[in-house]
Amino acid sequence: MTTKIAILGCGTVGRQVLLQIHAHLSRLAALGRPVEVTGVLVRDPSRPRGLGALEGLLTADASALGEADLYIEVMGGTVRPLELLAPAIAAGKPLITANKALLAERWDALLPLAERGLLRYEASVMAATPVIAPLAQLGRSAGPTSLEAVLNGTCSYILSRMERGVSYRTALAEAQSLGYAEDPPTLDVDGWDAAHKLTVLGRLLFDPGFSLDRVAVQGIGDLHPEDLAAADRAGQALRLVAEISFEGGWRGRVWPKRLPKDHPLAWTPLSRNALLFSGTDGGTWLLSGPGAGGAATASAILGDLFSWAQGIPGPRPLGWVAAPPPEPS
Ligand SMILES: NC(=O)c1ccc[n+]([C@@H]2O[C@H](COP(=O)([O-])OP(=O)(O)OC[C@H]3O[C@@H](n4cnc5c(N)ncnc54)[C@H](OP(=O)(O)O)[C@@H]3O)[C@@H](O)[C@H]2O)c1
Repeated sequence: MTTKIAILGCGTVGRQVLLQIHAHLSRLAALGRPVEVTGVLVRDPSRPRGLGALEGLLTADASALGEADLYIEVMGGTVRPLELLAPAIAAGKPLITANKALLAERWDALLPLAERGLLRYEASVMAATPVIAPLAQLGRSAGPTSLEAVLNGTCSYILSRMERGVSYRTALAEAQSLGYAEDPPTLDVDGWDAAHKLTVLGRLLFDPGFSLDRVAVQGIGDLHPEDLAAADRAGQALRLVAEISFEGGWRGRVWPKRLPKDHPLAWTPLSRNALLFSGTDGGTWLLSGPGAGGAATASAILGDLFSWAQGIPGPRPLGWVAAPPPEPS
């Protein structure tokens, strides 16, 4: 039986999702899971998107999505997606999402799907670089002691320009003109995008009760090129770091942090995201790769679609007890 897929959103990510699914229809059918995209929800279906005949799938009529068997949410926001998805969630239909804000802020609404392995969200953190599945496995094999990550490419770009003496305002304008920064850019530069991603990871690995309000957030807007120059003179680099550590409970922090230049998060190429996970057995793991962009993010959605097609459940919460505090070293 053909599975009907509804896609919510056809912007930077959703357009690529639609194209990539259509490029892989025969592979999905070969797995015994033929699929058909039956509708793609947008605000303005009349706007040309270079999709050829697939543009006929665009609709602004949410009721046209009602009959789908599987939902892919790439529209963003925390209110409208849940209004649209509530019936699908209640009916226990599989959901794939890239929406870290929704995952961070409305996990309560998504939990019924997550508990049944029906929620997949690999694209939400570090986009094309798989971190949810590998970290879930690491969390089972080596209890976490800390996590440190660079999760926002826009901030990395701006800081790299400021290292060269460019002012914050000019670097931000460059990032916007290159299409890196969202409009408005506040989620990126004020640190909330990284905080959303950190909340997703905190909940997955450290404590099922980890929530956004456990993350202290400071963006990069108050930095000046002199701050980066001073760090450079001290053999350090400034990065927007998102980290989790134990301080009487698992706590998160997003902040412009000085790192030694030989620190893995400092030398990771600026076009990539990177994450350093430390486990109870003293091991550390570095995950690094493309962390944003339409095609890259869509590839992670496609990976989730294939995992669904192969019957692999979405990442289940890890036992739902908080990880114990790390042993004193
Ligand atoms: N961009 C990335 O690199 C990236 C990476 C990882 C995760 N994500 C996440 O992926 C999601 C999508 O990001 P994006 O960059 O693709 O966003 P985007 O370019 O702004 O696209 C959003 C899409 O959703 C549609 N939409 C928004 N609100 C709507 C509403 N109320 N009713 C109907 N349609 C609506 C828009 O329709 P119109 O086209 O008609 O305006 C547009 O097609 C977000 O949750 C984001 O955080 C993005």
